[in-house]
Amino acid sequence: MSEPALRIAVAGARGRMGRALIDEIVTAPDLRLAAAGVRPGDPEAGMPVEGVPGLSYTDAPEALFERADVVVDFTLPAASRRHLELAAAQRTAIVIGTTGWQADDEARIAESARHAPVLVAANFSLGVNLLIHLAARAARALGEEFAVEILDLHHGMKRDAPSGTALALGRALAAARGEDFETLARFARTGETGPRESREIGFGVLRGGDVAGEHTVFFLGTGERLELAHRAHDRRIFARGALSAARWLARNRPPGRYAMADVLGLRDG
Ligand SMILES: NC(=O)c1ccc[n+]([C@@H]2O[C@H](COP(=O)([O-])OP(=O)(O)OC[C@H]3O[C@@H](n4cnc5c(N)ncnc54)[C@H](OP(=O)(O)O)[C@@H]3O)[C@@H](O)[C@H]2O)c1
Repeated sequence: MSEPALRIAVAGARGRMGRALIDEIVTAPDLRLAAAGVRPGDPEAGMPVEGVPGLSYTDAPEALFERADVVVDFTLPAASRRHLELAAAQRTAIVIGTTGWQADDEARIAESARHAPVLVAANFSLGVNLLIHLAARAARALGEEFAVEILDLHHGMKRDAPSGTALALGRALAAARGEDFETLARFARTGETGPRESREIGFGVLRGGDVAGEHTVFFLGTGERLELAHRAHDRRIFARGALSAARWLARNRPPGRYAMADVLGLRDG
């Protein structure tokens, strides 16, 4: 007998990522869209979800956690903070792709993960997770002789900068070199900057058009340079990756904080 379909609730269902998630869920035989959440007070609340017979948008976040096995959330940090509380209260697994977190949000995520399986990732693409892994290896191999700089290019509607992925790359590179990211990150250069500090990790941010997301890590040496780059052509890759994470979390994972490296088996080597 086949397994019952996994019940997925989508928070931010009318956003760019929310729509991509719903398109993927309705065509996946092992998944069922159990709830589609919109911002409280959104006039679409109570209206039918296009292409999903019998389901209406809800603006009550509690409903997502009551109806689903896993909630998938690509919204805003303020909404995701509330969703973390509800995941803990209902003991419902949650996958979060929202970016733009504050430093103290780490403690909120850890607290929620004491009660429910929680996976927060700045990027759900296989390629970017492999990029993070490879960049950390390159940083270890190349050492301090090579300056590390990160370039982030995204569509013009993106609200946060640098991207969560660029920050995740920076953190992984600093950790690979045994250094403190917060001390070494250099987010802006303008005017009389003076020479580059040898160990800093610089960020460049470009915005415009409909670019789904591009990241390049530069390792700048004397007489040579290495560039590791990833280009996302279609945001469906993030939706598919988030749903792979949801399937993985639903396999009886105990409460805890998980990462895409766990889902993709990229922890070692
Ligand atoms: N991890 C990844 O792989 C990945 C990939 C792409 C994007 N992202 C991140 O995911 C987030 C969303 O991106 P997007 O491009 O989909 O943005 P978007 O198109 O602006 O969608 C966000 C949606 O969330 C809704 N929302 C806001 N507050 C809410 C609340 N309290 N409850 C429910 N829904 C709420 C918004 O509704 P209103 O418009 O009515 O406010 C909007 O429909 C961003 O942080 C982005 O950086 C992550």
